[in-house]
Amino acid sequence: MHKGKIRGVRITGLGKHLPERKLTNADLEKMVNTRDEWIVTRTGMKERYIAGPDEPTSSLSLQAARKALARAGVEPEQIDLIIVATVTPDMFFPSTACLVQAGLGAKNAAGFDLEAACPNFVYACAVGSQFIATGMYDCVLVIGADTLSKIINWEDRNTCVLFGDGAGAAVLQPCPDDRGFLSFSLGIDGSGGEFLKIPAGGSRCPASHESVERRLHTIHMNGPEVYKFAVRSMPDAAIDSLARAGMKTEDVDLLVPHQANLRIIEAARKRLGLPPEKVFVNIEKYGNISGASIPVALTEAEEQGLLKEGSIVVLTAFGAGYTWGACTLRW
Ligand code: UT7
Repeated sequence: MHKGKIRGVRITGLGKHLPERKLTNADLEKMVNTRDEWIVTRTGMKERYIAGPDEPTSSLSLQAARKALARAGVEPEQIDLIIVATVTPDMFFPSTACLVQAGLGAKNAAGFDLEAACPNFVYACAVGSQFIATGMYDCVLVIGADTLSKIINWEDRNTCVLFGDGAGAAVLQPCPDDRGFLSFSLGIDGSGGEFLKIPAGGSRCPASHESVERRLHTIHMNGPEVYKFAVRSMPDAAIDSLARAGMKTEDVDLLVPHQANLRIIEAARKRLGLPPEKVFVNIEKYGNISGASIPVALTEAEEQGLLKEGSIVVLTAFGAGYTWGACTLRW
């Protein structure tokens, strides 16, 4: 068996949830010095959804989770483990997983939050799968959810046009046949930490009047540096994941990449030699929703009938840290 390869775990239910309020490029033109044409040509984004003031990450998570559970035919009491993968937890503690557990009434579940930036969903699937592969648990609820609108500097045009809010959830259960997760490829490179971060609010720079005045609790990003990393890491992770499953890019039926920038997705597609119809894109509707990006895309791919039984699906993502993660599944 290849290193990193696991068997016997598949996604049995998917669900997504987006907040009601839509923010278009035209709306952003009224807020900062930007243009619809710049945003569309540089990123592919046209609109994104923004959570309300009483809508934290846990509330989007709960709604996505309920839909995924319904599709899997699973009751909350059957859940053994809840993993909420997010960079925007409701609070430092309790974990968002605890809040979701209480909201669902999942009285038999363990749970925790996981943070690996935008590849969060892939990381959470990798972690959740281990519990099922070892036989410790039979039902894991994995949620990728973020409310990035809450940590954006709405006066910084370099970042505020890029992000949105949303949640996606998946139910993982054992699978006796050859479907499910075939392999994972995960990695981090902390030397890229400077290029995408929230400098304050943690133990390095606790909240103070000065930190708030200097907007240090919002996203700080060097876009071009992150871009260079992204176009390399997304296809590399996909290729490594395929190799661990004993496959090549020719075997891929559908690539579901992290939706951070249409140009990054296009560069990855070309590097992998895939035709456009084999790459799922919905960035125009949601912007970059970080950990929710892949589970929301995967849910939509299923709704559109693109996930056929037996088809080979590859998820791939990059993010702050730097982090990257990809996995190969037989649907
Ligand atoms: O999940 C991971 C999250 N992060 C990412 O994925 C970010 C990866 N990077 C990117 O997607 C791209 O680097 C950006 C979309 C952020 C920027 O695109 P770019 O082609 O790399 O543009 P740039 O940063 O080199 O900026 C080009 C110009 C600059 O003006 P000058 O200095 O050339 O006069 C910017 O000030 O575009 C300007 N600019 C804008 N103009 C209108 C930057 N943001 C905007 C804006 N509207 N919103």
